[in-house]
Amino acid sequence: MTDSTHAEVTYGSYLHVDALLQLQQARSVPEHPDELLFIVVHQASELWFKVMLHELKILTTHLGNADTLASLTTMRRLNALMRIVASQLSALDTLPPQRFVEFRGYLGSASGGQSHQFRAIEAASGLRDEHFMHVLQEHGPLPPVVVDVLQRPPLQELFLGLLEKHGATLEQVYEAADQTAHFLLAESLIEYEQGFGLWRFLHVQLVERIIGPLTGGTGGTMGAKYLQRTMQQRFFPRLWEGRAKVFGATRSA
Ligand code: HEM
Repeated sequence: MTDSTHAEVTYGSYLHVDALLQLQQARSVPEHPDELLFIVVHQASELWFKVMLHELKILTTHLGNADTLASLTTMRRLNALMRIVASQLSALDTLPPQRFVEFRGYLGSASGGQSHQFRAIEAASGLRDEHFMHVLQEHGPLPPVVVDVLQRPPLQELFLGLLEKHGATLEQVYEAADQTAHFLLAESLIEYEQGFGLWRFLHVQLVERIIGPLTGGTGGTMGAKYLQRTMQQRFFPRLWEGRAKVFGATRSA
């Protein structure tokens, strides 16, 4: 690339700011003053989901290569991203119910439940049971972004494979409980699961705050009731079990 090509690059052209700022198209007429915030929090979340999926792909490669340090480095970033996505929801806590009602009708049947990237993050992380896959396929063929992550093993399987390649077991890692890289990696996965759970918790609280605990969602679910149930799902059941076992064994010793 020549210097003259470099000289033409500006902040706006590099980041496509003009195009980006054209993407917030309110549907309410006249435009409701709160719809911009509603759109931006969703769009920003989708952008962060995109980065998360990118990092998850990198993580699966590192775990598959049994590269503990590189996996830890990626987990640190993933956990930072998770915290950002969860904290963004607080902007919508400032939306009073009666103001949301004023433009909710314009959203039609659009619902966060249709977020392909969110489903892909769930599937990449470990939610792949029959029920989950069935719900995913209810609305037609699987979205490409989900098909892509399903080609790689889920995180828990990859992590256990990494331990095996290093000649360790999960029990040994937890029993030693010293600050080995494997222990820290297990902890960072648990932190990720907690971060995701925090997003679910803050989201369901937001939903209850704005539409109440009993109102159905635009996506046709039971709203907050349905969302409450999703909080019981686990990406890494083996890791949680491993910790519980160590606690039990230590107590009875
Ligand atoms: C006014 C604020 C919000 C309300 C009232 C709301 C409401 C709901 C409801 C009722 C559901 C259940 C599905 C349905 O029947 O529609 C849902 C699901 C979902 N929402 Fe929201 N939401 C809000 C903000 C957000 C934001 C900012 C995001 C960020 C991307 C988001 C992402 C999602 C996702 C990913 C799901 C699927 C969750 C799952 O199935 O586990 N929502 N939302």
